[in-house]
Amino acid sequence: MKKIGVLTSGGDAPGMNAAVRAVARAGLSKGMEVIGIERGYVGLLNREFVTLDARTVSGIIQRGGTFLYTARCPEFRNMDGVLKGKAVCEEIGLEGLVVIGGDGSFRGAGDLSSVGIPCIGLPGTIDNDIQCTEYTIGYDTAMNTAMEMIDKLRDTTQSHDRCSVVEVMGRRAGYIAVNVAMAVGAEAAITLERPYDLNEIAARMTKTKNEKNGKHHFILVVSEGVGQTENIAREIQEMTGIESRATILGHVQRGGSPTLRDRIMATEMGYHAVELLEQGIGNRIVGLKDGKVYDIDLQEGLEMKKPFIDHRYDILTETAY
Ligand code: ADP
Ligand code: F6P
Repeated sequence: MKKIGVLTSGGDAPGMNAAVRAVARAGLSKGMEVIGIERGYVGLLNREFVTLDARTVSGIIQRGGTFLYTARCPEFRNMDGVLKGKAVCEEIGLEGLVVIGGDGSFRGAGDLSSVGIPCIGLPGTIDNDIQCTEYTIGYDTAMNTAMEMIDKLRDTTQSHDRCSVVEVMGRRAGYIAVNVAMAVGAEAAITLERPYDLNEIAARMTKTKNEKNGKHHFILVVSEGVGQTENIAREIQEMTGIESRATILGHVQRGGSPTLRDRIMATEMGYHAVELLEQGIGNRIVGLKDGKVYDIDLQEGLEMKKPFIDHRYDILTETAY
């Protein structure tokens, strides 16, 4: 391939810039022309292009967000939009495309591949909820941000003998919640993947509080898929008598300079994507399996079932208090 494109789509994630840089640098080193497409599929349909050269992508590896911008594009969900995208690719001579985003973006990439534009999906989402990969770009940074914020929250929670019920992102997935709960020494992680009983959590809190030298402040981490964070805080307060506050960390978790892990993963995965396109291979998702970067058929990858981190959840529950 002589000319490829790269776009970021769906929710942004720290490390997307590092991935764009890797795709651009790898493509250039293989003698390709690399085009950045702004605002995901919206920019493809609207012809929002920027030529990527070694300098355009300089100084972005450490930046959060995505300098290519991102968007959601309802039009791309139907075949008319996809065919329009194919026509734009042909018009400017794009022979392949790297799509950095989540599973929604990958479905678009699959559709575009099926009409003759080879696409490679790179997992870019803080949620780590893409089935066929152990890791998604942005996950580590988001968890570190949440951890640092909850560490700060603990200071005031402890000073006031309170309970903080903290909601973290993750869409319907509880990976961020469990890892962050473990890392901050929380009493519990409340997620959709595992049944939870507020009465049982409250009883454990009361017991701990009433022990000699008992504990007087508590952190509960709630996955956003569970929601109800305000209600949970209110119920815990009613059941335990411990003053409780709800905190929703929100979009701050999507920002910030990517960690080393996210930069390295983005770089390795970006490089791998270009290697596939160089061989004329499309309709693949790049991911991490057994700690190694690999690729898998796009539709097969989307249909896989991802195991939950049950072992970590069990250790967290057993070692709380
Ligand atoms: P993410 O990629 O993070 O999962 P979305 O689900 O919002 O984010 O998807 C991003 C974009 O991918 C959508 O706005 C749309 O353009 C495209 N997309 C999502 N689902 C599909 C689909 N089933 N078919 C084609 N394109 C899709
Ligand atoms: O997928 C990333 C994510 O931040 C989820 O954790 C969250 O549910 C969602 O995106 C929020 O989307 P929006 O930015 O559209 O509010």
